[in-house]
Amino acid sequence: MSFYRDFYDKQAIEGWNALERRPFETITVKRLAPTIGAEITGVDLSKDIPDHQFEEIRRALDENLAVIFRDQTLTTEQHKAFARRFGTLHRHELASNAVVAGGSLDPEILGWKTGPQSRYTAGDAWHHDVSCDPQPIWGSLLRVTKLPPSGGGDTAFANMYLAYESLSDRFKSLLDGLTAIHDGGLAWTAGYGAQPDPGKSYPQSEHPVVARHPRTGRKFLYVNSAFTARIVQLGKDESDAVLNLLFRHVEKGLAFQTRIHWSPNSLLFWDNWATQHHAVWDYFPEERWGERASVVIGSAPQA
Ligand code: SIN
Repeated sequence: MSFYRDFYDKQAIEGWNALERRPFETITVKRLAPTIGAEITGVDLSKDIPDHQFEEIRRALDENLAVIFRDQTLTTEQHKAFARRFGTLHRHELASNAVVAGGSLDPEILGWKTGPQSRYTAGDAWHHDVSCDPQPIWGSLLRVTKLPPSGGGDTAFANMYLAYESLSDRFKSLLDGLTAIHDGGLAWTAGYGAQPDPGKSYPQSEHPVVARHPRTGRKFLYVNSAFTARIVQLGKDESDAVLNLLFRHVEKGLAFQTRIHWSPNSLLFWDNWATQHHAVWDYFPEERWGERASVVIGSAPQA
């Protein structure tokens, strides 16, 4: 019997850091932490990116899961054009409540303006974006168009491959094969007080608790505290206990998290299946504005 705290996470991290990482030819990738996050330079996202460079950006995302491009002066159309290279642009249920920085409404952009009157800000809890959709967002690309002067407003990320791999084998085998209901009403009505249009309800979908990533073939944990309501195959108390354990596991997994600090004219791109993120609201009552384009790829996470 061991009296030491779990060693599983160290073994998982060792495996992650032993992954082969080939050099890049057309971009420079600086890792921000050993287990997640990188900064990419050497590319101008306002231009049409050549295929080889595009493939290198995809690989940098696969390897680092959340990547930030700094000093990019992008219009909303250029932001969307880059996002569209990866799939179809997602239309958010709450997009009609959101105003982008220019004041117009665009169903392909989720915009928000957090300030002294705000009761909540988008994403102020660990979550995958919109996991309640039948084909949930695979990639999100965010520009923060107004930064709080205090320097706050980081976005924190957690690596969901490592969240899974750092569990014990016995616990992993309990989770493998389970499915969970993800409920938009939990995040948006219970969380934000938003109501669906009359006669409609927010989406609810069933997804595997542990899924296999289509690009990397690795298993990742796919439950989050904002949207995941219950595990279908367990009793209510069992489901609550297991979900709470998993939510705490993600929250306290500092070794597989990072915080990405914003600077003006940055674009942050994350793999929304293999990560969770949390927008840190430490700048109240200052303002922070965001515009997010998100990408769906015509499929849902599969076990
Ligand atoms: C989100 O997309 O959930 C918000 C992220 C952020 O504002 O940093």
